[in-house]
Amino acid sequence: MRLRRKNVLVGISAGIAAYKIPVLIRLLKKEGAEVRVITTSEAQNFVTPLTLSTLSGNPVLSEFYDKNGSWNNHVELALWSDIFLLAPATLNTLAKMAHGICDNLLLATYFSMKKGKIYFAPAMDLDMYKHDSTTKNIQMLIKTGAVELPAQNGKLASGLSGFGRMMEPSEIIQKIIDHQLDNLPLKGQKCLVSAGPTYEPIDPVRYIGNYSSGKMGVAIANALFNKGASVTLVHGPIDKNLVLSGLELRPIQSAEEMQFAMEAEFDKADIVIMAAAVADYRPKNVGQEKMKKSKTEISLELVKNPDILLNLGKRKKSQILVGFALETQDEFENAKKKMIGKNLDFIVVNNPKNEGAGFEHNTNQVSIIFPNDKIKEVPKSQKSEIAEIIVDEIVALK
Ligand code: CTP
Repeated sequence: MRLRRKNVLVGISAGIAAYKIPVLIRLLKKEGAEVRVITTSEAQNFVTPLTLSTLSGNPVLSEFYDKNGSWNNHVELALWSDIFLLAPATLNTLAKMAHGICDNLLLATYFSMKKGKIYFAPAMDLDMYKHDSTTKNIQMLIKTGAVELPAQNGKLASGLSGFGRMMEPSEIIQKIIDHQLDNLPLKGQKCLVSAGPTYEPIDPVRYIGNYSSGKMGVAIANALFNKGASVTLVHGPIDKNLVLSGLELRPIQSAEEMQFAMEAEFDKADIVIMAAAVADYRPKNVGQEKMKKSKTEISLELVKNPDILLNLGKRKKSQILVGFALETQDEFENAKKKMIGKNLDFIVVNNPKNEGAGFEHNTNQVSIIFPNDKIKEVPKSQKSEIAEIIVDEIVALK
């Protein structure tokens, strides 16, 4: 599932290699991609829309207008695509892409692409492929950031042999996955994340704690890892099954242990996110033996725990530092004070009183506050989705 949650648009132009695209679509789906297909109208002579729509699970588009008169929105398609794979890419389509000619839906979508990555797999006869103008067009497309999946040597539909065969579907997919991994936005970045509650011991069998599940912090750590970062997760008691394998784990119990672990890693880190629900106080005296029940009333004397994030903020050099704020009233004013006081690049505020927000849920509802007073409201969503949004904001700061 190496293309999980990726939106892949497959653009088919009219070459005999189009017959291999159903296999390519199956392999994309197997890797977890969401697939949509557009074709030139001629391409449908080589592969049927019914096959393509059945395998992709989506209608196949080729004209600007459907038979029923509705408009196929190429801008929406382009924005939807994380990856636009043109396969097979014929001489004609490559030439139009290189020279700004836009006479079909496939090309209009290509020219509307913004953030998504473009891959193209040329397929044509050998003399067409090695023609000067094809070479120049391919070079022009590569210069714009598109990635060529070069044609291979072998037997061609014309009966001739040479370079011009479309790369095999399995190899196309491997090349795309390798390229995506090499170009992840946080590749080479070291991230340090804290998650979960801290448990402050009273005696060998009792503690003061809170209801934090650590799900939000773990989701952020996972999202950073999926963007190519190496991630160290300093965590209190949490469900470790939620953590992706590949993360470095530093289990701790108390706030003081968390502080020690965070400070040990802080100087090496590029990005630090403090999502843990640190207990603000701890028992002043920790019993060496189990406390016996004798008196009808007892009191526990508590002392303040270190503010881990405040101290990290003071030590901050070039790190991106992000904190959370849990507020049940005056959310924005209180969170802003924390952001400034703790020297943060932004702060994520949540109010556990909101429906579907807070500690034990799989969902949350947050606002992200930036030092320039910009506020990004994130409606109630899965914690994994919120983590993606938070990580996107971090990537934007890089
Ligand atoms: N935090 C921390 N160390 C503490 C307490 C909090 O590092 N001892 C961090 C939290 O992980 C969070 C941010 O500081 O990223 C804000 O935590 P929050 O509990 O909302 O606020 P506090 O600073 O503890 O202030 P208060 O409890 O008074 O609202």
